[in-house]
Amino acid sequence: TYLGIDIGTSAIKAILVNERGEEVVSASVPLTTTRLHPSWSEQEVDQWWGGVIAAMTELWKDQRVDKSTLKGIGLTGQMHGAVLLDSDCRPLRSAILWNDGRAVNEAAYLQERFPLLAKEVGVLPMPGLTAPKLLWLASNEPDVMEKTRWLLSPKDYIRYRLTGEIATDYSDAAGTWLLDQERRVWSKAAVNAVGLSLSQLPPLVESDEVCGHLTGEAAKLLGIAADLPVAGGGGDTPVGAIGFGCVKAGDAVVSLGTSAHIFSPTVSYKPAVESVVHSFCHALPDLWYQMGAMLNGASAFGWVCSLLGEDAGVVDARLHERYDGPGDMLFLPYLTGERTPHNNPHARGVFFGLSPTTDRESLCQSVMEGVAYSIADGRDALTGSGTVIQRAAIGGGGAKSRIWAQIIASVLNIPIIRYRGKERGPAFGAARLARLAVEGGNPYELCREPEIEEVLDPDQSYVGHYRENHQRFKRLYRQLRSEFQ
Ligand code: XUL
Repeated sequence: TYLGIDIGTSAIKAILVNERGEEVVSASVPLTTTRLHPSWSEQEVDQWWGGVIAAMTELWKDQRVDKSTLKGIGLTGQMHGAVLLDSDCRPLRSAILWNDGRAVNEAAYLQERFPLLAKEVGVLPMPGLTAPKLLWLASNEPDVMEKTRWLLSPKDYIRYRLTGEIATDYSDAAGTWLLDQERRVWSKAAVNAVGLSLSQLPPLVESDEVCGHLTGEAAKLLGIAADLPVAGGGGDTPVGAIGFGCVKAGDAVVSLGTSAHIFSPTVSYKPAVESVVHSFCHALPDLWYQMGAMLNGASAFGWVCSLLGEDAGVVDARLHERYDGPGDMLFLPYLTGERTPHNNPHARGVFFGLSPTTDRESLCQSVMEGVAYSIADGRDALTGSGTVIQRAAIGGGGAKSRIWAQIIASVLNIPIIRYRGKERGPAFGAARLARLAVEGGNPYELCREPEIEEVLDPDQSYVGHYRENHQRFKRLYRQLRSEFQ
């Protein structure tokens, strides 16, 4: 068996996968995010390690598990998080996460001062990416930056705890705004721009290579054998795609996690920074991807349900029953600002079109539709940069909702594929990378599409109406843009 571990934003997730590539058992341990200011978002680094130990303990309790068959571990996790270690490899502060919006001025400074760098590092500088946050720390917590020996991404801190190795892989390095995406080396110019030196950045490895072995101490804490190989692993977005077999040009995934994204592999590096597309290294050698990255996904639906004191699953079932086409209300889902296509950390959520007949369900449906329109914006940004998407798989926690997937199919006017195991997330892809690292073989053979559960075609009687609503949605944002600050 192979173990995949995902350092997610909402939880640590672990999954055990057998030789036939099937899930044996999984576990999930929730995480807390601290928001000291409305736009800040941090997690205590050792909470992740505690969560990994707790998740393992949970897994091994299951009767179906035979620990002695475990052959390797793969890692994945939230991207763009800044983890700073001192010379004893101890965390200097909490990690500043991908959905933290504090580094607005620093992102603007990087763009103004180094306008050509975005094309090299794959995307415009935006507050949630690692590099602008380092500049913020240099101004606001200079002693932290002075003591920094290593800059790591979240899953790489867990690699250090597991193996004692300091390293990262290309696909997670891709999200730091410090990697030369085409040449797959740290970008000297970007590293200089944030005042770091190359020696503070971890060595780069392939996602499907062995990168360290479990130390005796970690093995004891996790209740497994020492010396187990740990694969390079990768960022949650590309590794989620590995789990779906999304590894060829023309393949695509729409994901509804805390954030949302639309993702499609490219066989060469294709930067398209003007449209706020992210062009990053995929988690396989010689492969890249383009992505529209939206900051508000299933979390927006969770937010409205909890505000109404409702259980998201129950609301989803009610919507499924009563859905009869596009709603009249519009919802701009920018609760935590937006990356693609607006690059606007100040944008906020908006309900538009409330009337005396607005009820709970119409509010909730408008949230699903608003997220779907934002995904359509992401798709349009990809189309404009040469990546045409004709069908897409759906993944992430929000993929459990059949009605949401149906709405997305009609809004995007493409078939949406629901795979068996669609909700299992990036940890599954990480287990695949562990297997590739240990057994070798052709990655394109192993990273196959899972079994299809159903394909949802767009409902042609709603497509036109949704197209109009999407235009209204875009106009509404344009009209309000100057009000967000
Ligand atoms: C990708 C992104 C998120 C995080 C957290 O660019 O910001 O998907 O990786 O899941």
